Parts: sequence; C-alpha cells; structure tokens
Amino acid sequence: MQILVANPRGFCAGVNMAIDCLEECIRIFGPNIYVYHEIVHNKYVVDRFTREGVTFVDAISEVPRGSVLLYSAHGVSPAVREEARERDLRTIDATCPLVTKVHIEAVRYAQQGYNIILIGHEGHDEVIGTMGEAPESITLVESPEEVDTLSFPPDAKIAYLTQTTLSVEEANAVIERLVSRFPQIVRPPKEDICYATTNRQHAVRTLIDRADLLLVLGSQNSSNSRRLMEIGQSAGKSAFLIDGKHEMQPEWFEGVETVLVTAGASAPEVVVQECIDEITERYGATLEEVTTREEHVTFPLPKELRKLQQA
Ligand code: F3S
Repeated sequence: MQILVANPRGFCAGVNMAIDCLEECIRIFGPNIYVYHEIVHNKYVVDRFTREGVTFVDAISEVPRGSVLLYSAHGVSPAVREEARERDLRTIDATCPLVTKVHIEAVRYAQQGYNIILIGHEGHDEVIGTMGEAPESITLVESPEEVDTLSFPPDAKIAYLTQTTLSVEEANAVIERLVSRFPQIVRPPKEDICYATTNRQHAVRTLIDRADLLLVLGSQNSSNSRRLMEIGQSAGKSAFLIDGKHEMQPEWFEGVETVLVTAGASAPEVVVQECIDEITERYGATLEEVTTREEHVTFPLPKELRKLQQA
C-alpha cells in the first residue's frame, strides 16, 4: 500500500495564532479562563485545553463576572462583545484576521447602503459572527437554488461576501448565479475564501486521481475539513473525515492500493502522524509527501496580548 500525504495540510496561520493566544493566556492568567465557543473546531485541541482547566462556553452568561474570556478564531458579533463588556469580562480576541477582514467588509458595505449576500453555512460560528455585524443588511445563501429565491428590485445596490472556509467550486457556482441574476453586484476587493482553505482543497484536487481512499483528519464540525472530504466523494472515491486513528475501520482499506491523507486547518499534525504510523504498521505502506503549494503565512498575537507580554 502507498500513502500519499498532501501538503499543505493541517494548521493554518489563524489556528496557530489562536492556539498560541490561548497558551499565552494560560501562562499569564493561569488555566481558570474561558473561551467563547471552541477555540478552533477540533476535538483533540479542545479536549487538550479542557484537561488543562480551560472552560469553553456557548453563552456569555455562563462566564463569571470579571473573568478572562477569549474569543475563538471564528469571530464574534458586536452583540457578544457588548454583553462581555456589560459583564466586566477581560477579553482577548483570537479571531483570525482573515475573518475580521470579512467583518470589516460587511460593516463598510452596510454603511454604504448595500444589501449584502453572505455565501455560507447557516449556524456556523463564523457566519453567526459576520451576520451580527449588520443583521438588517445581510441575507445568507447556501446554494445557487437559494439565489433564485432572492427578491431585490432590479436597481438594488447589492454586494456579496463569503465565509472563509467554503468549497471554492461551490462558492463559484453561487457567485455565477448571483452575477447572472444581479449583474450590478459588487465583489469583495479580494475573495474571502482564505488561502489555507484554497490551498488544502487544491492539494486534494491535484492528488485525488492517484488515490482509492481519502482520509481527512479533522472534526465533524470543521467546515473546511468537511469540504476536503466532499472533494474526495465528488471524485467518486471513498472519503472519510476522522478525528484520529481510533476511527479508522479495517474495511475501508480492503482492495486499496493508495491512500491520500490530509488534514483540515484545525487538525494538529500529531493526529496525522498517528494515522500514518498505524496504516504503515497494519499494511506495510510506503510514504510519499507531495507539496502542491508553499505556504509562509503567519499572524501576530492580538495586540492586547502583546501589550500584556511587555508589561
Ligand atoms: Fe483563518 Fe482561514 Fe484558518 S480564515 S482560521 S486562515 S482556515
């Protein structure tokens, strides 16, 4: 058996920054701190910090007054920030700068009187946060079919934005339908699907024809990880999204000559290596790592944390 390992895979700059941010907060304040939502959508990462004493909450009301609270990589709405202020929480913002960029675009378009179409998945933390920036101006769509249900006057001011972790192809299908229905629609200055999402999808698309089976390391609630699995499925291959080697089933490997292994942007490299070791041990596999694009992106810690480091 051969294992093809896709590169780039795994942690992106936003996830690295958010995890560094939480580690640094634990160092400064101790582990008795709170995070609004999962710091990143990965069970391994969240379990690790929970064991260290960090509490993850889904509502600000769960955080005791005066506590330290981190906002996760996916961003939050202004209403959440206001609630945290009212509760006297000391907040540190670990939102990925590429998510913040979408928030800023939403505010700017809303101020300029645009109707904003947000292409994204209902209920995702990032989508909830972005919609909260201008709830009266934003309409969420998930598919080309939903575009057909939109009713704006022919001369309406319309702009679109996208969630950062969508499938590039599916987003393009929605954008094409939007442009054909509303030719006046304004595009974001730079596409919102982030470099990490784009590069991980590109690697899987490039390599999938060589594989019989695709394994994506990542959690079920990780949007960008699910998109990677779907690329494998659309190519007609068996494809599974797993948190770790314990989820691998022997029947997946029957008759398989080549396994393609990748990881979503929130999955740590340790779970990838554990899977590779397990497959190698079970089936005597050989390893080939293929780099389809180079990545050199890093983000600094939030400035409120850098100030604390200097204090
Ligand atoms: Fe940011 Fe993209 Fe990662 S939006 S958190 S760099 S997946």
